[in-house]
This record gives sequence, C-alpha cells and structure tokens, in this order.
Amino acid sequence: MGARMVSGWRREDDQPIEATLRPRRLSEYIGQDKVKESLAIAIRAAQERGEPLDHLLFYGPPGLGKTTLAGIIAAEMGVSLRVTTGPAIERAGDLVSILTNLSPGDVLFIDEIHRLNRLVEEVLYPAMEDFVVDIVIGKGPAARSMRLSLPRFTLVGATTRLALLTSPLRDRFGSTYRLDFYDQAAMIQILNRAARILDIALLPEGAEEIARRSRGTPRVGLRLLKRVRDFAQVRADGVITGEVAQTALAMLAIDELGLDEVDRLILRAIIEKFDGGPVGVQTLAAATSEEVDTIESVYEPYLLQLGFLQRTPRGRVATRRAYEHLGIPFPVERVPIQASFLAEEEDSEL
Ligand SMILES: Nc1ncnc2c1ncn2[C@@H]1O[C@H](COP(=O)(O)OP(=O)(O)O)[C@@H](O)[C@H]1O
Ligand SMILES: [Mg+2]
Repeated sequence: MGARMVSGWRREDDQPIEATLRPRRLSEYIGQDKVKESLAIAIRAAQERGEPLDHLLFYGPPGLGKTTLAGIIAAEMGVSLRVTTGPAIERAGDLVSILTNLSPGDVLFIDEIHRLNRLVEEVLYPAMEDFVVDIVIGKGPAARSMRLSLPRFTLVGATTRLALLTSPLRDRFGSTYRLDFYDQAAMIQILNRAARILDIALLPEGAEEIARRSRGTPRVGLRLLKRVRDFAQVRADGVITGEVAQTALAMLAIDELGLDEVDRLILRAIIEKFDGGPVGVQTLAAATSEEVDTIESVYEPYLLQLGFLQRTPRGRVATRRAYEHLGIPFPVERVPIQASFLAEEEDSEL
C-alpha cells in the first residue's frame, strides 16, 4: 500500500488514534455544553425511572463528536452499543434481524442515517414508535403478515445532512441535538487531553497554533496534532513549540485559518470561473472534481461559518472576505450574475 498525502480531516487513517482518544464518559467530553447538559438530564431521568432513553438524533459536520456521544450514552446508561450505518443496511430484512437481536435497553447507533433506503426506513417507523416490526411470511396469496415485538431500545441517529432526513423519520426522535464547531478554548483542551494520553510534549503556544487551524473540529485537530508530532520528532527535538507547529502546518499547506488546498480550490473556482457566483453546487462540484456531498457536508459548513461563502437560493456566492483571504481584488462593481440559470435548488439546512 503506497503512502498517500491526505489533508487534515480525511478519514482513512483515523482508526487507531480515534480508538484511544475517544472520551468514554460524559465528564470527559469537552465543549458542546448545552448538548451535554441536556443529555445529562435525560440520562439521569431515564435511569431514575428505570427506562431506556428516548430515541435521539445528532447532526452536524463530520468530526464534531457524534459517534463519540453515541458510545458515551451507552456507557452512561450501562447498556451495550450496536453500531451500523445507513448505507450498510441494504434490505428491510437486515434491519429486522438487527432489531430482533437487540437486548432490552440497548443503544442502536445508525450513522449516516439520512442514507437509509425507503423500504428499510419504513421498518424503522413502527420499531421506533411501538417497538414492533411487521414481517411477511410466505409468498403470493398464502403470504401473511406477522407482528413481532421488540425489546425496548434506544435509537441514536447521526447525520451530517439534516435536510436530507424525511420528516416521518425526524419526527420519531424524542430529541434532536445540533453539534457546533468548537471554540478555540475547547479545541486547546481537546488537544491537551490528547497530548497527555499520547505522551506528546505540547507547549501552550503549540497547542494554540494547532487549535487555531483545526476548523473548530476535534477530528481535524487530532489529525494535525499527530502530523505535527511527527515533524517535531524528526526535525526538532520532539517538543511542539509554537514555531515547530507553525513550520509543520505550513508544510501541510494549511493556512492560518485552517483552510487547505481543497477549500482554496473551491473558493477560487467560484471567484475565477463563476465571477464570484452564484453558482450551483453541482456545477461547483464538476468544476472542482469534488463530490457534491463532500462539498456540502465537509467543506461548506466551515466556509459558511467563516463568512467566506453564502448560500443563496440561486447558488453559492463568494464574499468579499473570501477574496481578501485569497488576496484577490474584490471587483468594484459586482453586478448580479446571469449565471442563475445554472443554479439548482438549494436545500435549507443551515
Ligand atoms: N468533545 C470532545 N472531546 C474530546 N474529543 C472529542 C470530542 N468530540 C470528538 N472528539 C474526538 O474527535 C474525533 C472525532 O469524533 P467523532 O465522534 O468520530 O465525530 P463524528 O462522529 O461527529 O464524525 C474522535 O477521535 C473523538 O475522540
Ligand atoms: Mg461519526
């Protein structure tokens, strides 16, 4: 297997570092205070009543801690966790067998739940609402439907694309939590915790430097920490100072706001190929050779948060700030562009 450069938050080599660093209890989970507080109340109340927790849904960009929270919920409730993903459940029968094999109180975590197919999703409705599944036995005129009851379980769903969830599914969750980007202080805490666990010499200036370029995303921060550690080990004396972090991050082509080559490619495409926009996301995807879904779930949320991008009904528009960041002069007269014909319908997630 050839080594391959991956930018800050691709998932390929996440596994070992994530396994050791994932907080196991709510008290170890840094930031997202509102979510944590409300979860702590729900968990406590369910425990006092001796009932399973209501179904809950987490949404937000990748790497903010949705999977981690699913594990924490199971641990806090003292039950086991079953993990699957929307696209992995191909047939209704697959879901029926997962559901009928649950034990009372179990947490079933379905990641990327917006990618469940319709037939599978329909099995989920009565399962979530009444803890039953209907199965059909036999074929043709002799076929009959049978209702099986399920143990009471908690469904935890996670999605990066809330707008793609059907409303019947959304309505069946007792609560929905939105995860936000972490602020600088929380990112520093996350990095320091990781450095302690992994035995990395991380000085405060080093932590600040990495945190600032982590896009408010723990997965990105931890990835950068790992890269900077490698650099510190080989090119410095193993200690991550502010300067070491800066040099290492510059080598990774991550700029002072945490943008990498793909972010800049997207912004440049809007500005240089589409006169600043509006441009539809399909067109933008074609122009940058990125997937629509990757642009919408990975890159865009942070560019929106920085105020570099706007989502309008006619498509994406690059803002003055984006021009300034890239050092491209902002056109004096920016007239509305005719390219609106190209823009597709935008969803209204944010
Ligand atoms: N609040 C947090 N505190 C500490 N580490 C976190 C936190 N949130 C996420 N992480 C770490 O960031 C990485 C990505 O989290 P994960 O739960 O897989 O994100 P998501 O499922 O939203 O994509 C994991 O290694 C996890 O340990
Ligand atoms: Mg996840």
